[in-house]
Amino acid sequence: MARSCLTIVLAAGEGTRMRSRLPKVLHPVAGLAMVTHVLRAAAHAGASAQAVVTGPDGAAVVAAVREDAPDAACFVQQERLGTAHAVLAARQAIAHGHDDILVLFADTPLTRRATLQRMRAALADGADVVALGFRAADPTGYGRLIETDGRLVAIREHGDCSEAERAITFCNGGIMALAGRHALSLLDAVGNANAKGEYYLTDIVAIASGRGLKVVAVEAPEEETIGVNTRAELARAEAIWQARRRREAMEAGVTLTAPETVFFSHDTEIGGDCVVEPNVFFGPGVVLDEDVRVRSFCHLEGCRIGPRTTVGPFARIRPGTRMAPGSRVGNFCELKNAEVEAGAKINHLTYIGDARVGAAANIGAGTITCNYDGVNKHHTDIGAGAFIGSNSALVAPVTIGDGAYVASGSVITEDVPAEAMAVARGRQANKPGYARAIRARGLASKRAGE
Ligand code: UD1
Ligand code: CA
Repeated sequence: MARSCLTIVLAAGEGTRMRSRLPKVLHPVAGLAMVTHVLRAAAHAGASAQAVVTGPDGAAVVAAVREDAPDAACFVQQERLGTAHAVLAARQAIAHGHDDILVLFADTPLTRRATLQRMRAALADGADVVALGFRAADPTGYGRLIETDGRLVAIREHGDCSEAERAITFCNGGIMALAGRHALSLLDAVGNANAKGEYYLTDIVAIASGRGLKVVAVEAPEEETIGVNTRAELARAEAIWQARRRREAMEAGVTLTAPETVFFSHDTEIGGDCVVEPNVFFGPGVVLDEDVRVRSFCHLEGCRIGPRTTVGPFARIRPGTRMAPGSRVGNFCELKNAEVEAGAKINHLTYIGDARVGAAANIGAGTITCNYDGVNKHHTDIGAGAFIGSNSALVAPVTIGDGAYVASGSVITEDVPAEAMAVARGRQANKPGYARAIRARGLASKRAGE
């Protein structure tokens, strides 16, 4: 039977180093709050129950957690007395008796599911306490993993280390996995006789080791353990996340011409043989099917782009847009809530909002769907094979029938029947010789003014 697993995420706010009204752990990486990254990684690693510990002012964090993980139990740590004390705020959840307990920090968003799974595998293998170690380029500030004869015997916080211990570069990443049956007794044994006077979660390593329990370290790359305390560290976490995602996309058969200039969201889905040219931003909710070419300088969010389509360069695709196979959106076009059917072409300088563009329809340069009357939004329906001449305004609600033809420069306020031609603009009048007369008049008045 699968082992049950409780995740406890420590999310108490700390100070103001982010200089933000938004709680630190709600700052997004790839468009998703850090605390949600952590909860999702744990869920993917098989967590069957989740608990979040916030500070007394954690209402906004609780609301965000509930949105993504409605079953998570939320606890409040009234006073900030240390990480072991924070874990014990979730005593009630721990007391349910889970096989595995994972303790994670909400400000450490880059830990991979596979790493959490390795920590759980160590528990399944008989370990009672598992620490996550990493080799620190600069270990200052981190707890050090103290080993004797290859066994992990203690984690010493930086402030409590001897000179010799400070030379150790094998550091504590912060995340811990505990055997549920020992968790409460280990946590209750933690004292606060240390440099900071805090109840350190890390002390359970020495306590467990002293009791003859099995304590091991699992190693992970440093980037998985980075914590975010400042905006600069947030940017670094974002950069690491993006670098990973680009690598994954390329491994999955996507061409990124200049990978470092393409930005994904946490939920971007991108099919094989897509090509993404330089300087493209994917906001949340984008799905690209196979064989899509996104040309330079596009911004996409909340859309589904079908196979064998081309978007851009310089296109903005907004939420609710769907592009069917073989359709095309070109430069300086904005689409919002638009259903673009197979083979339709919207090539230049156009706004299509709240509209359907029928199969193989052609939308001329400068076409605007006037979807908003200042109060309400209205729908434009463009039939299959319709041709909309350049610089036309389609004042919604309006329907252009299948195969209809709208003359350039029209302002269309009434429905156009299928196969009809609509022209809605002033008629052209040519006045022979008038150009010369106008110039003469102009010159005369200029001279009179001198
Ligand atoms: C912690 C580890 C250290 C490790 C480092 C990795 C402990 C005692 N130390 O140190 O060994 O190298 O992480 O980044 O665990 N928190 C609470 N309530 C508290 C105190 C902390 O919820 O009373 C939360 C914080 O919000 C934070 C996490 O626990 O998310 C870690 O606390 P922090 O004070 O940042 O510990 P570090 O000094 O970074
Ligand atoms: Ca920290």
